[in-house]
Amino acid sequence: MYRRAFRGFQQARAVATRVTQERRAPLAPLALVAGAGASALWLSQERQKASHCGFFSPSKGNFKVCVCGGSGGIGQPLSLLMALDDNVGELSVYDLNIAMVPPAGVAADLGHLESKVQVRGYAKGLEEKAVDALGDCLQGCDLVLVPAGMPRKPGQTRDDLFKINANIAKEVVEACAKYCPNAVVALIVNPVNSVVPAMAELYKKKGLDPKKIVGVTTLDGVRANKFVAEIAKEHPNNVNVPVIGGHAGVTILPLFSQDKHAAKIPQAEIPALDKHVQDAGTDVVNAKNGKGSATLSMAYAGARLGKAVLAGLAGTPTTECAYVASDVEKDFPYFTSKVTFGKTGVEKVHGIGSLSPYEAKRLEEAKAALKKEIQSGLDYAAANSLA
Ligand SMILES: NC(=O)c1ccc[n+]([C@@H]2O[C@H](COP(=O)([O-])OP(=O)(O)OC[C@H]3O[C@@H](n4cnc5c(N)ncnc54)[C@H](O)[C@@H]3O)[C@@H](O)[C@H]2O)c1
Repeated sequence: MYRRAFRGFQQARAVATRVTQERRAPLAPLALVAGAGASALWLSQERQKASHCGFFSPSKGNFKVCVCGGSGGIGQPLSLLMALDDNVGELSVYDLNIAMVPPAGVAADLGHLESKVQVRGYAKGLEEKAVDALGDCLQGCDLVLVPAGMPRKPGQTRDDLFKINANIAKEVVEACAKYCPNAVVALIVNPVNSVVPAMAELYKKKGLDPKKIVGVTTLDGVRANKFVAEIAKEHPNNVNVPVIGGHAGVTILPLFSQDKHAAKIPQAEIPALDKHVQDAGTDVVNAKNGKGSATLSMAYAGARLGKAVLAGLAGTPTTECAYVASDVEKDFPYFTSKVTFGKTGVEKVHGIGSLSPYEAKRLEEAKAALKKEIQSGLDYAAANSLA
């Protein structure tokens, strides 16, 4: 038994030395969450040592981050992963006072990590308005991550959630407009394809920069990389498949032709792989059998995007795919493509590059669906405004 544990330890150490610190940081705590034993514990301890180094590094940022919905399935592990980012000096964990776990409890728990971060919990009653209640929580925030909202149940589409979740997002965005109008607001809440245009247009109406509103589609790229890595027998760190379009069903368009390992996969296998990426969220919803949607992988993906934003703010431009106000595709005011995050947030929205004939055909399918979903968001913004 000890020999097996030691072998696990050695393998973990070999992997940890190979993996870059940027990618390794989010992985270690997830391994712990999964209770993966001695090797995971070792990874976690290594990560904490790296945090101590980061604490004394003047090159690291000291940003304030808020996780809205921070007591939820995504919110808790996302708060953990952000608390471990050396660019984070202060973390607000915000949720309703009827949440499953009080946000003050999540904050107290995270407050014992050996990292430099100061964690505070904030709760709001249903009868209170976020725009009145969230001053201390949001004031000075550089990044607000929003997994607040209802997750999908089996048989439900992301669009079914729109009405409920758009109202939840609106109250958060309204409070951001008042207390931290320059923060990047990263919306995880579904349906991203409609909620992001709705909130960005509301920002525009209020005279704020719509590019501060960013739709988190990172999980689609994470899944595409993982599935390709399994086929190519590569480490996922060596795979980088851009996933463009939107974040639901056929609007999710992985560009396998643009990654050197994925490009070697026979064309005949691409449609099934494409579908696998599109359906991956539904696969998790079904596997959880009515008890939630993707939470741990989403937290990993949200932290990857959050870390990229903070790295950009700290002066290291960093590129990830995201769903933002865009002019890269004619007649599509919102679109997912590669985005470089810099010192003010979204710095450059990149074009989609060259496509294979299959991808060009799929792009037309994606656009037809996305158009309607963007329109739902524009209609919502036309009928509402921020206080
Ligand atoms: N972008 C993506 O790739 C992706 C992936 C998975 C899930 N999601 C979406 O993320 C959202 C959250 O999913 P989850 O599984 O964490 O759900 P969850 O129910 O576990 O957590 C949601 C949290 O939001 C809180 N909340 C609800 N209304 C709120 C409000 N008005 N203000 C503040 N907090 C509020 C709840 O109390 C809860 O703690 C869902 O909309 C889900 O569809 C997005």
